[in-house]
Amino acid sequence: MNLNIYGDFFRNKRILITGNTGFVGAYLSLTLLMMGSKILGYALKKKDLRYISNTKEYKKKIKTIYDDISKISYHKSYIKRFKPQILIHLASQPILSRSYIESQATYETNVMGTVKLLELAKELKSLKNILVFTSDKVYKNTQKKNLNENFSLGGDDPYSASKSAQDLIANSYKYSFFEKNKNIFIIRAGNIIGGGDWEKTRLIPDLFISSYKKKNILLRNPNATRPWQHILDVINGILKLISVKGGKVSKKSLIYNIGPKSNKSIKVKDLILDFIKNSKIIKTKYEFQKLKFKEKKFLKLSSNAILKDINLNAKLNMDQTIKLTSDWYSMFFKNKANIFDFTKKEILFFFKSKY
Ligand SMILES: NC(=O)c1ccc[n+]([C@@H]2O[C@H](COP(=O)([O-])OP(=O)(O)OC[C@H]3O[C@@H](n4cnc5c(N)ncnc54)[C@H](O)[C@@H]3O)[C@@H](O)[C@H]2O)c1
Repeated sequence: MNLNIYGDFFRNKRILITGNTGFVGAYLSLTLLMMGSKILGYALKKKDLRYISNTKEYKKKIKTIYDDISKISYHKSYIKRFKPQILIHLASQPILSRSYIESQATYETNVMGTVKLLELAKELKSLKNILVFTSDKVYKNTQKKNLNENFSLGGDDPYSASKSAQDLIANSYKYSFFEKNKNIFIIRAGNIIGGGDWEKTRLIPDLFISSYKKKNILLRNPNATRPWQHILDVINGILKLISVKGGKVSKKSLIYNIGPKSNKSIKVKDLILDFIKNSKIIKTKYEFQKLKFKEKKFLKLSSNAILKDINLNAKLNMDQTIKLTSDWYSMFFKNKANIFDFTKKEILFFFKSKY
């Protein structure tokens, strides 16, 4: 299954991806594999065997260094020999609730991990494009605002502050060290949904796991709104951005939001009701649970800049997002041995279809 889009930009490119064992990283690695890239991953191994990165096909096709990001300098000579041309940094402690419990570890991974990685990047002459994946949680004041890239950064909890710091650090490396020789891309993405995510504290994996176990799903923040989007739209955004802008070195950091098609944010409760209504495999009800930690109530992301600069718009609307996500989990519960091939077919279908 070969994918030749973006003018073959990624064919034979050598790409280092941190966090390639996770939800976003596995989809990204598989898509690039199908485009003919050579990939080296760097991440902790996922303990949950259901992750795509734990399938034998994934492990066979994608070489991963399994270690903590804080130890990346120990692997310097191996990474140098790989001669990466592109670096995509996804490795993070990505869970807001966990960041309250493991605040120091969250900062060590997300902040110092990024610093250690970018220090190593200084020594990689082959490297021309670096993409750091942050989040919509980097913005300071979000009450009822459609957030664009010019809003101030902030962060009232350890996860948000650490992602905000990641964003600032990446930008500082551009101006201090990489002005003439490397691009720095910073992507601030909204909430991502799709198959292959098994993080129990996230809404959609929790929904499918609860339903499979015939339990009700507990909603912490039912009236919160989020910019939900499908994983493949996010992958398309990352790759289109690098292929369009990565051919020459820009003077500035290239910073973009990536959000859903309609610029619309949907309430947690309504998203769950849509899933329950439209997915054949979900047989669960929801209950409310008291919020145990502070979480933003309103998040709305403007993707106008990326639409204007590289003509990127999400392909999938919410119904299609729900359908693809449901199809993935129902496939998994029917025949998990097929999940590697099924995900590749899903990727191919997404990129070949007009929608
Ligand atoms: N999923 C979303 O909705 C979403 C939205 C916006 C941004 N993001 C960002 O996307 C990135 C990937 O998140 P995900 O959703 O795939 O989560 P995930 O938990 O599935 O993946 C996280 C990845 O980071 C790696 N990692 C974590 N701690 C590490 C450490 N100390 N050393 C080395 N590797 C480490 C994990 O091994 C895994 O590969 C993160 O940077 C996250 O902040 C995610």
